[in-house]
Amino acid sequence: MTEPVLHTGDCLNVLPSLPAGSVDLIVADPPYNLGKDYGNESDSMCRDDYLTFTRDWISEAKRVLKKDGSIYVFMGFRYIARLYIVLEEELGLNFNGWITWHYTQGMGKTKGFSPRHDDILYFSKSPKPIFNLDSIRIPQKFYRSRNNMRGANPGDLWEFSHVHYCQESRTEHPTQKPEGLIERIVLASSNDGDTVLDPFAGSGTTLRVCQQLNRNCIGIEINPEYVDLIESRLKQAFNGFDSLDPRMKRIPNDLNDPAIREEYRKNHKAWFLRNHPREQQEFDDEFKRKYAVKMRQASLNFDEADSECVN
Ligand SMILES: C[S@@+](CC[C@H](N)C(=O)[O-])C[C@H]1O[C@@H](n2cnc3c(N)ncnc32)[C@H](O)[C@@H]1O
Repeated sequence: MTEPVLHTGDCLNVLPSLPAGSVDLIVADPPYNLGKDYGNESDSMCRDDYLTFTRDWISEAKRVLKKDGSIYVFMGFRYIARLYIVLEEELGLNFNGWITWHYTQGMGKTKGFSPRHDDILYFSKSPKPIFNLDSIRIPQKFYRSRNNMRGANPGDLWEFSHVHYCQESRTEHPTQKPEGLIERIVLASSNDGDTVLDPFAGSGTTLRVCQQLNRNCIGIEINPEYVDLIESRLKQAFNGFDSLDPRMKRIPNDLNDPAIREEYRKNHKAWFLRNHPREQQEFDDEFKRKYAVKMRQASLNFDEADSECVN
């Protein structure tokens, strides 16, 4: 477990104090400028001021990033296209991916389509950033000897539900992100002991995830009340991350060979549910249910073979 460093203040003032080329990964979830109440006016700027603010903090972010470092920026519909232009054309960062976070639930509109996604732009300083595919694979749908049972690439459409108010990790912050989503970013684009920066820490999701994944994390948050909230969140006992891509619980069909099935059962938990102890139990139950007949048959065959040996 690694203890994060938290700065209270405006990231435009704090970022210049960080050394150039000192950060491996930046996870940035800035205000989307949609008028949300973060206890300040940060989400209600006029368009030009917001774009200037965006250019300024991203220029600083680029300066502190290491050569093989990556930056992921969350954004809503209103500024996503402009954000892309700032990152690629104006600041010359390398494009790696446009991820859509599908959150399944939210306010319903009566006119127009109810919004159900945010976007995450994934850029890097050089064309060859760190990318740990094995750490973020998702389970296959079928067992096939030719398949890589270590799992498939999760793609760029990610489903994670919002953290519900009844969940232990839920805070009063209005735009708290799911830990499972940040877990995927941190595992993909940093290594053990690396330094991760979150310039808009909010409720502290990135700091919490990094604390548990053995990354050094620097967080910046302008609202002192949220800083208090982060400090108490970081002291809570850890019972697993609060969210998971539903595909991580998927049990492949056709695990017919008993030895392969048992080997896979153990691997699944270590590969896909490492930081999710609650879902490990659910997985065991579902696995038994799905393969009950085959497992019973295998144990009968084993008993018969055993008794043949004795006779
Ligand atoms: C979208 S929220 C981040 C939510 C966070 N990812 C989470 O999971 O809780 C943006 C946060 O940035 C903070 N903020 C706004 N302007 C800031 C600035 N200039 N410097 C640092 N923090 C700022 C807001 O107070 C708010 O908590």
